[in-house]
Amino acid sequence: MKVLGLVGSPRKNSNTDIAVTQILRGAEASSHQTEKLYLYDLEIAPCVDCRNCKTKSNHQCTIKDDMQLVYPKLEEADVVVFGSPLYWYGPTAKMKLLIDRLRPYVESKKLKDKKAILVIPSAEGADACSFMAGAFELSFEYLGVDLAGKVLVKAYEKAEVAKQPATLKATFELGKAIK
Ligand SMILES: Cc1cc2nc3c(=O)[nH]c(=O)nc-3n(C[C@H](O)[C@H](O)[C@H](O)COP(=O)(O)O)c2cc1C
Repeated sequence: MKVLGLVGSPRKNSNTDIAVTQILRGAEASSHQTEKLYLYDLEIAPCVDCRNCKTKSNHQCTIKDDMQLVYPKLEEADVVVFGSPLYWYGPTAKMKLLIDRLRPYVESKKLKDKKAILVIPSAEGADACSFMAGAFELSFEYLGVDLAGKVLVKAYEKAEVAKQPATLKATFELGKAIK
């Protein structure tokens, strides 16, 4: 299987990155193919509701930016790990840009029956993540994507998750359990 990890934090080697990477390492231990993308390395323009993906372009987004590289990777993946820290009780701006650009899949249904794993580090912990997790869960449901796991990590300082053996183990095991 192919597992694609999306890191929606601007901080490389920090909490989101570490948790997503552990999931990918676990997946590799179960012989799955993995790839990781740092969203902050990509140019992702906002969806402008042109509706071309609905009507004029065979369900393709017509905005020419790095999402054109991401779309085939999403379509080839069996499991997508969506990792974003909690920013003001929602995802980071970059992750939101990516989510908005999933609009073509409402029509094409190309993400249907794929699996998603959600990773949300936050300073306040799980209770503060209910709005963001809920928004992702509803969006996955709308796209026909099955939520296969949810990791809500309490962490604030850079790379704090590296000092949480339980989180490292749980995320590795989550990846290893992918089937
Ligand atoms: C702009 C901004 C907004 C944030 N908003 C929240 C928040 O609403 N609730 C919370 O618990 N933590 C919030 N945080 C803290 C981050 O979620 C936390 O530091 C997280 O571990 C960062 O993950 P990273 O190390 O992968 O970047 C915020 C951080 C920033 C920079």
